[in-house]
Amino acid sequence: MNAESIERSASGKIILCGEHSVVYGRPAIAVPVSTMRAYARIDPACKGSGLQIHALDLQQEFALKDAGDDDPLALGTRLVLEHLNAPEPDAILTLKSDLPIAAGLGSGASVAAAAARALGAALGTELSPEIISEVTYEVEKIHHGNPSGIDNTVIAWEKPVYFVRGTAPEILSIHTPFRLLIAYSGIASSTRAAVAEVRRRWEMTPGYYDVVFDCIGAISKASRAALLQGTIRTLGALLNENHELLMKIGVSLPRMDNLIQAARGAGALGAKMTGSGHGGNIIALVDDATTAAVKAALTSAGAPRVWETMVG
Ligand code: PMV
Repeated sequence: MNAESIERSASGKIILCGEHSVVYGRPAIAVPVSTMRAYARIDPACKGSGLQIHALDLQQEFALKDAGDDDPLALGTRLVLEHLNAPEPDAILTLKSDLPIAAGLGSGASVAAAAARALGAALGTELSPEIISEVTYEVEKIHHGNPSGIDNTVIAWEKPVYFVRGTAPEILSIHTPFRLLIAYSGIASSTRAAVAEVRRRWEMTPGYYDVVFDCIGAISKASRAALLQGTIRTLGALLNENHELLMKIGVSLPRMDNLIQAARGAGALGAKMTGSGHGGNIIALVDDATTAAVKAALTSAGAPRVWETMVG
C-alpha cells in the first residue's frame, strides 16, 4: 500500500444515440464528458483500521467489513482487491462527484470507475480500461439490473465508443470536434424503472418494438459514419430522428420534448433526450453561431441547469 495519498478520477458520459435499443443488441454511441467527473482519494490510515469508505455526496461513512455485496462501493472495492489478490488495506477511500445523480450522465459508473482506479493505484497498479470496465459493469448491475454495458465501457476508456452488447467496443476517432449542450429536465430518472418498462412493452408487442429498435440501430450506424466523416449537419438530423423513435417507445416526457423543441427552435442542429429517459437530460448539438441562443432558449423553457461540452 502506497504511503502517500493517491487521487484518481473518471468522466461522466452521454449516450449520443441508441439508448434502449442497445439493450436488445443494436449498436449505440456514447461519448465521455471529461469536464464533469467523479473523484476518489485514498489516504493511508492507522494499522488495523481496515478500509473505510466515505461517500461525501451520499453522506455515508462505513467500514468495508460492515457492508454487503449489495452495496455498489463495497462490491467494486472487493472486486479490485480480488483482482489484485491483495488484502484489505488500512486506508480511507473518499469519493465525491460533480455529476448529478439519476440524470443519465453516468454518475454511478463514474464513481465506481474512479474508486477502482484509485484503489488499484494505491496498491501499485494502474488498472487497464478492460478491468475498470469489468468492475464497473458488476457495480452497474446493482444500480440497473440488466445493463447493456455501454456506460461502464465509455467511462473506462474515456473515448467516444461505438458499442454493440457482448462485443469489444470500437473507439471512434472524431473527424470534426463538435459542441453539445446538456440540459437537465428537472426530473430525476430511474434507469432500472425505464429499462423494465420498455421490456414489458417489448414483451407485449415484440414485432413492433423490434422494428423501432432496428431503425434506431440504423441511426447509430449512420451517426458513426457522420462522426468519422465530420458531417455534423447529418449527425444533427439523425439525433432528431432518434428522438422521434424514443418518443414512440414511450421513454420521453412532455417536459423533455418541450426542451428539445426549444433547442431546435433556437437553431440547434439536432436535439434528443439522452439516457434512459422518463426525466434526466436532453442534449442539443450546437455550433459557435447558435450556442448562446440555444442555451438561453433552454433556460427560458425551464431547464434548471445547462452544461456545455466539446466532443472530440
Ligand atoms: O444510465 P442511463 O440513464 O444513461 O441509461 C443507460 C442506457 C440504457 O440503454 C437505457 C440502458 C443500458 O443498459 O444500456
